[in-house]
Amino acid sequence: MIIAIDGPAASGKGTLARRLADHFGLRHLDTGLTYRAVAAALLANGLPLGDESVAIEIAQNLDLAQMDKSILAAHEIGEAASRIAVLGGLREELVNLQRRFAQTPPGAVLDGRDIGTVVCPDATVKLFVTAAPEARARRRTDEMISNGKDAGYTSVLDDLKRRDERDSQRTVAPMKQADDAVLLDTTEMDIESAFQAAVDIVSRAKGV
Ligand code: CDP
Ligand code: CDP
Repeated sequence: MIIAIDGPAASGKGTLARRLADHFGLRHLDTGLTYRAVAAALLANGLPLGDESVAIEIAQNLDLAQMDKSILAAHEIGEAASRIAVLGGLREELVNLQRRFAQTPPGAVLDGRDIGTVVCPDATVKLFVTAAPEARARRRTDEMISNGKDAGYTSVLDDLKRRDERDSQRTVAPMKQADDAVLLDTTEMDIESAFQAAVDIVSRAKGV
């Protein structure tokens, strides 16, 4: 069983993916971390973000078990990840890695931007999780404050909108709801009701 979850930043897709994986006994991969890990390695070595052959080499040596979410969560890394995510050859390398993860028993939940459309087009169930930009910016701001940082709501909102635009307008694997994905708009939902709604959608798709 493969559950594909796509959506924009701070829509809640990561939290839902992790909780669905626990609930249904599946493995979980936050594919955004693979783009972040490559971006972080380029930044750390002072390499240009447009150097695709080096980016591919980093991707080929990526160890999923070593990706540290707390380090990779930095704002500059998210921004750099979205810049390198336009590189077609790099995406191909990361997609192969993500597919191998998805196809390993007993199955998996993957979250990202192109899981339902490119990485796992035959997933058992596909969710496209979204929320109004203002709700997402509020969540990201609160999350930063609870981690002792405060970039300010307005600048977080501007950044989110810019990243959404870049992710949905790029020519290679743009963020897009798959034709057979179920839309889950969490603007008015807390994480608990969003999780219940997601469990219902998955259970219906599995026929249980
Ligand atoms: O957590 P958040 O939604 O802020 O970002 P993320 O999922 O960690 O993704 C960071 C960036 O990686 C995104 O803005 C996308 O440009 C890129 N990405 C992608 O292109 N395809 C994916 N499957 C996952 C992430
Ligand atoms: O993975 P993605 O960037 O889409 O979002 P996330 O990391 O799962 O969620 C971002 C933040 O919003 C977390 O602190 C969630 O607890 C919060 N959230 C929320 O308050 N209400 C929701 N319906 C979904 C997420």
